[in-house]
Amino acid sequence: MCSKKVAGIALFLNGVILVALGVIIGLLLPNMTLEAIEEATCVNSKDSSGYKLWEGPHNYTTKVYIWNITNKEGFIYRGEKPQLVERGPYVYSITSKQVNVKFEKGQVTSTTFEQAKFNKTLTEKECPTCREDDELTILDTVYIGSSEQTISLLQSLNYGLTTTRKQSEITLGYSYMPEFGISVPGLVTSHANETEAKKFGTNSTFYTCESEEGDRFTFAAIAGESKVNKNFFPYASPEQLKIRGYYLQFPGVESLKACQTKYTPLAKSYELFIADFYLAFPFTYKEDVEIHDIPMHKYVLKKSALEVNNVTLFTRGVFDTSGVMRAPIYVSLPRFLYGDPSLNKDLDLPLPDEEEHGSYVSEVRNLSVLLTD
Ligand SMILES: *[C@@H]1O[C@H](CO)[C@@H](O)[C@H](O)[C@H]1NC(C)=O
Ligand SMILES: *[C@@H]1O[C@H](CO)[C@@H](O)[C@H](O)[C@H]1NC(C)=O
Ligand SMILES: *[C@@H]1O[C@H](CO)[C@@H](O)[C@H](O)[C@H]1NC(C)=O
Ligand SMILES: *[C@@H]1O[C@H](CO)[C@@H](O)[C@H](O)[C@H]1NC(C)=O
Ligand SMILES: *[C@@H]1O[C@H](CO)[C@@H](O)[C@H](O)[C@H]1NC(C)=O
Ligand SMILES: *[C@@H]1O[C@H](CO)[C@@H](O)[C@H](O)[C@H]1NC(C)=O
Ligand SMILES: *[C@@H]1O[C@H](CO)[C@@H](O)[C@H](O)[C@H]1NC(C)=O
Repeated sequence: MCSKKVAGIALFLNGVILVALGVIIGLLLPNMTLEAIEEATCVNSKDSSGYKLWEGPHNYTTKVYIWNITNKEGFIYRGEKPQLVERGPYVYSITSKQVNVKFEKGQVTSTTFEQAKFNKTLTEKECPTCREDDELTILDTVYIGSSEQTISLLQSLNYGLTTTRKQSEITLGYSYMPEFGISVPGLVTSHANETEAKKFGTNSTFYTCESEEGDRFTFAAIAGESKVNKNFFPYASPEQLKIRGYYLQFPGVESLKACQTKYTPLAKSYELFIADFYLAFPFTYKEDVEIHDIPMHKYVLKKSALEVNNVTLFTRGVFDTSGVMRAPIYVSLPRFLYGDPSLNKDLDLPLPDEEEHGSYVSEVRNLSVLLTD
């Protein structure tokens, strides 16, 4: 039989999906003077010189890892613990652009239009056996999140604890019971077209360089609200529920000296707000790196951010996003990095590797533009 602990973890597996926090946005700006950089990043109207760059489109890639349950029968019928095989990364090329843009009072509100396309070349490079239409067995989040009454109905229709789907469906979302209009969102947002994003997307508000209320580039609100819905994290304090932190753009150095090649990082740490989960993650400065010849400051996720806090983390390394997702979905870093090693042990998973599974953000040292990886 499944022990209680394993049952708890099994629910987590719903989260099945370990999306690395990282995305890469590479912006290569030509050499510019400091004023030009300031101009380019101080976007406070559609006429600002940096507006086009800010609006996009931007291209980046995101990697998706999915755990395949390989003993479906034993898991469902014989109470075995799930045998998991990590598959991936499945690499997606994403194009994103800001739409419904509105500037007012030192703030900018916009909706991100995103389209994700499976990148066969990059996927094959990183995972030679991974295919776009790989079939994977994961826990069925709708089934698990349903009331007893609905579960009986689902059972009569042959739905169960697990579901076998194509990778592309798990990643981009799928229609669950088309007859009832139930669909399961994917891990990666992909709008059919710009009109859809404008109509159904959630807007975000950021402070601009003109703001006197908040630090530029930081979140001011999501869907017009400056606080996270209390039901998402019932144990959080008002301070913890504040929508805050950076998204993809960070302040750069305040003064550049001529001929200087090294720049000290502006801040020891940054807080990044991941709107999908309504969670803020602290990143701390680690070292200087060069990626594609661009000097950058590398920021890594603070280990302490994964410790139990009884607000968002009840097991070390596992964020409880069930309130936000309205389904038993929990999120961890790939391979439970910085998590409780018993998670890996219980699931017979090898321990994570900081280099391979870590998330970090790199700030372009002499530009105010970000790069995350
Ligand atoms: C930024 O760094 C690159 C690479 O070191 C250098 O070529 C460029 O001149 C720098 N730009 C400014 C504005 O200092
Ligand atoms: C982004 O990708 C699209 C299509 O995938 C391409 O047309 C466009 O030129 C790319 N933009 C940049 C800035 O690379
Ligand atoms: C997932 O596991 C099932 C059951 O073991 C297997 O048939 C299937 O091929 C696996 N999928 C991938 C992509 O490895
Ligand atoms: C895959 O990614 C590479 C590198 O980012 C890019 O040049 C290529 O256009 C992408 N292919 C697709 C199909 O998006
Ligand atoms: C956008 O996509 C939706 C859903 O696929 C479709 O119904 C609509 O006609 C499309 N709109 C445009 C302008 O292409
Ligand atoms: C942002 O979204 C909220 C909620 O949908 C809406 O009330 C508000 O008007 C939107 N703000 C802007 C500037 O479009
Ligand atoms: C979380 O709750 C547990 C059990 O109530 C308690 O032992 C622990 O000290 C709490 N941890 C924090 C960080 O508040």
